[in-house]
Amino acid sequence: MTEGVLRRTVLKTAAALPLAATFGLLASPFLRFLRPTLKPLDVLGQSDQPIAEPPIPTFTEKDFPEPWTCLPFMFNQKYIEYNPEAKEIRKIPGFIVKLPTGDVVAYSRICPHLGCIFNFIPEPEECAKGYNFDPRTLAGGGRPVFACPCHLSVYDIANSGKVVSGPAPRPPRKFEVKKSGDQYEVIALEAGSIA
Ligand code: FES
Repeated sequence: MTEGVLRRTVLKTAAALPLAATFGLLASPFLRFLRPTLKPLDVLGQSDQPIAEPPIPTFTEKDFPEPWTCLPFMFNQKYIEYNPEAKEIRKIPGFIVKLPTGDVVAYSRICPHLGCIFNFIPEPEECAKGYNFDPRTLAGGGRPVFACPCHLSVYDIANSGKVVSGPAPRPPRKFEVKKSGDQYEVIALEAGSIA
């Protein structure tokens, strides 16, 4: 390599360094968006997204002797916080239900309207009297529903928690349920606010 070529290479490299540094700085927020972490450049560190904190609610097939068996549970959600413990644990009540299809689904019991705790209503008559909605009018026939005592929102459990009555803006948040063998573990809550 001649002296001239060498000098040109060194100058080119020196000129490219600020460009590379600028690109790195611009990429940092994007990386943080893709994988949120507690420290801005700590892309390999623990994510600051909320995660499940043990004990993980666990059920077995025997817990669901028949379709529409509905069981309450409490899910611990850990949030990274700037407090002395560097975390906060929030307890989120949930229901896990075995559908007639054999699927097992789990929902947060916190009503997406204004945050009351809703109930499992197995009887259509009870729902019609107490919550002003008759589940027998649902397509496919009457079935148990979730219903909120505060402003009477009703959710169709068998239809992805669809709002079928009342002011709720959307279905309740769903939990992720992991099945291994005859065991069901509630491992995560759908992203978003708690309600
Ligand atoms: S808080 Fe549940 S319907 Fe309003």
